[in-house]
Amino acid sequence: MMYLIIGGAGYIGSHIVKRMYEEGRQFIVLDDLSTGHLEALQAIENNADHFGGKIVFIKGNAGDMSLLRQLFMDYPIKAVIHLAACSLVGESMQKPGKYFLNNVSNTVSLLECMMEYNIKQIVFSSTAAVYGEPEIIPILEDVETRPANVYGASKLMVENILEWYGRIYGLRYVVLRYFNAAGADPSAVIGEDHKNETHLIPILARAALGLIPCFSLFGDDYATADGTCVRDYIHVNDLASAHLLAVDALNDGRSSRIYNLGNNQGYSVREVLNAMEQVSGVSIPCAVLERRAGDPAILVASSEKIKQELGWRPVHTDIYDIVGTAWEWHRKHPQGYDARD
Ligand SMILES: NC(=O)c1ccc[n+]([C@@H]2O[C@H](COP(=O)([O-])OP(=O)(O)OC[C@H]3O[C@@H](n4cnc5c(N)ncnc54)[C@H](O)[C@@H]3O)[C@@H](O)[C@H]2O)c1
Repeated sequence: MMYLIIGGAGYIGSHIVKRMYEEGRQFIVLDDLSTGHLEALQAIENNADHFGGKIVFIKGNAGDMSLLRQLFMDYPIKAVIHLAACSLVGESMQKPGKYFLNNVSNTVSLLECMMEYNIKQIVFSSTAAVYGEPEIIPILEDVETRPANVYGASKLMVENILEWYGRIYGLRYVVLRYFNAAGADPSAVIGEDHKNETHLIPILARAALGLIPCFSLFGDDYATADGTCVRDYIHVNDLASAHLLAVDALNDGRSSRIYNLGNNQGYSVREVLNAMEQVSGVSIPCAVLERRAGDPAILVASSEKIKQELGWRPVHTDIYDIVGTAWEWHRKHPQGYDARD
């Protein structure tokens, strides 16, 4: 069984690659390195306690049909894990075309090539942003999807397209709607390194390292216990284990599914800030600013469905564990992968 992992040099993709490499699974990685890091794949090879061979890496675009055809001819790929996307909510509202082209149009090109080569299994990275601001918490998979930004809309479009390919061609898929991916592999050899960082935990780590002078907290007057927004943080290695369960389920012939991936538990911005201060031992300067438009007060997933159907069991559920692994990565790689450390 060989997999094509598209976006495997990115933050979440590299953690999936690490797990697959350690388990001795067969895969190749396709990534255009627009936001990913080849160094992540090299770190995985260098730090494994056995030599699993060179990771086959192809630099290229998920929508390049001639490249995809070549890959599908050259390698016996049976399933695709598709993580490649643009995923900055704010940018998506300024450059919608970039998001529809990369996230939707390129995925259609990929699906067309997959159908040509009779590859009919895919695991797709979707997002909590497909829900918008649901009224009932925790969020179940079958609530109405009402994305509030182009990023979420682009992911929901792909979910709908997958459904049509399922009906027409018999494609089977697992859509994984991640909540807030966080943390790093406990080895600290790979982690989160986004040039344009918008995620809370890496921003706090950078503040603790003194790389940014002050942490900006957007709004402390929400209807939550301490007034700050509550989110559901899921450890990146728990996301990785869900992907392995998903590809195995498809390989076992299971039908298509959509699953949330979160921890069924929310933490406020202040709670995460406190956790970072504790694990780093640094007091982080914080400025409270106005709310940002479009930030819901609380977003927490129900992940019961994937637990019951695939037996998924998250391991890193404690916020100190999640923040601690992130801190270790940032402490050891303050400049990310680019630094020669
Ligand atoms: N990080 C989160 O909290 C989160 C939450 C929900 C959903 N997601 C989704 O998970 C996926 C991975 O997110 P991430 O945080 O690891 O992001 P990332 O930017 O680190 O990884 C994306 C990877 O895809 C590659 N890529 C992008 N467009 C490509 C293309 N056209 N062809 C080939 N490669 C391409 C990038 O170079 C990068 O390596 C994305 O689809 C994202 O929308 C992430």
